[in-house]
Amino acid sequence: MGAKLLCLCIAFTLVAYYIYTPIPENIEQPWKLMLISAVFRTLGNVAEVAEQLGLANYMDVMKLFSTAEYTAPTSDENVTVTDKEISGVAVRLFLPQKPRDGLRRAVLYFHGGGWCFGDAGMTAYDLLSRRTASQLNAVVVSVNYRLAPKHHFPVQFEDVYSVSKFFLQSRVLSQYSVDPTRVCVAGDSAGGNLAAAVAQKLLEDSEVTTKLKAQALIYPALQTLDMNLPSYHQNADMPILSKSLMIRFWSEYFTSDPSLREAMTSNRHVPAQWGHLFQFVNWSTLLPDRMKKDHVYTDPVYGSPALAKKYPGFLDLRAAPLLAAEAQLRALPPTYILTCEHDVLRDDGVMYATRLRAAGVPVSHEHAEDGFHGALTFTASPTDMPVGLRLMNNYLQWLEEHL
Ligand SMILES: *[C@@H]1O[C@H](CO)[C@@H](O)[C@H](O)[C@H]1NC(C)=O
Ligand SMILES: *[C@@H]1O[C@H](CO)[C@@H](O)[C@H](O)[C@H]1NC(C)=O
Repeated sequence: MGAKLLCLCIAFTLVAYYIYTPIPENIEQPWKLMLISAVFRTLGNVAEVAEQLGLANYMDVMKLFSTAEYTAPTSDENVTVTDKEISGVAVRLFLPQKPRDGLRRAVLYFHGGGWCFGDAGMTAYDLLSRRTASQLNAVVVSVNYRLAPKHHFPVQFEDVYSVSKFFLQSRVLSQYSVDPTRVCVAGDSAGGNLAAAVAQKLLEDSEVTTKLKAQALIYPALQTLDMNLPSYHQNADMPILSKSLMIRFWSEYFTSDPSLREAMTSNRHVPAQWGHLFQFVNWSTLLPDRMKKDHVYTDPVYGSPALAKKYPGFLDLRAAPLLAAEAQLRALPPTYILTCEHDVLRDDGVMYATRLRAAGVPVSHEHAEDGFHGALTFTASPTDMPVGLRLMNNYLQWLEEHL
């Protein structure tokens, strides 16, 4: 009896030790985040081992997370949900069932998952789109763009771009009873990256006459140049998205060749001839003082031109919208940006807010002091964390007022 109890105690201690992760003090219900983090970490470890043994690519194992979270398209009393193709790309379509008083809004939504995993049918994304559709009386097109490592940049961008462009045609908008003056793009994380890139590129496309009413960027990834920003330092080991996982996502977006990942890890991947781009990610001028804290700005260290020649995608504006010059930002629509304090991507979003404002774009920047990467999308179901639900409500409220 005593031995059994002892074993139980030891087992419990080991499990608790495994699950325990230091969590910043201002995050409410830290145990929930620890549990989510433990799931991610375990999957990451399995992926690492599988890759070392040559059994699978790391990201193919990480994809199990989206598979486990998948829900089939199911309509409810407020929203009709179907999976279909638009312009040859898979999408999940959410149509509000409310009796129509006039035309509806539309949201083109791009899910997160580091361009490598994620699915419009994951419970969290399905819930967000459903709520958006029913609360805003909006048609939501949630795009299942193709993923790395099977597909690299620019496939992900091209998929979301072609859906957006197709949907913005007058005849398509009228087929869905959408008001052409009330369409926005939105996305989280890698999806926020795609949304920002699509909004920029639409401005240059003479074939598109419909203008976006807004863009909503939820903890977006926006730049590939500096992997040593204060937020990368500060949150290098934060749950859900560590610095090393983010670098893995970035490099995998362009190639599975580990040499890009290694160069990004040492922050020496940009050749000197592209040095002028660093002004657009200069955190010493673009971050507010309270975020600079005691970090010390150092000038960039340049890498060999060979990588940039082989994988030019990482210097392409369609992958790194923060690298656009000011003239390219001026005509962007009113923008919502959510950043979280405990997130490696915090400074990407904060710097974009600074740059958009300087270019005269109306920006609503919400910064969650108690937020972490994934908070809005992965902890917002009613049984999850209070921060997730609050951020989702704020985001929907902004859309309600600006779309
Ligand atoms: C449908 O909308 C009503 C009113 O907003 C809400 O009370 C109800 O819970 C919604 N149904 C579902 C299944 O979400
Ligand atoms: C970044 O800004 C600082 C301070 O204004 C400046 O000294 C530095 O030269 C800038 N670096 C780049 C690469 O723009």
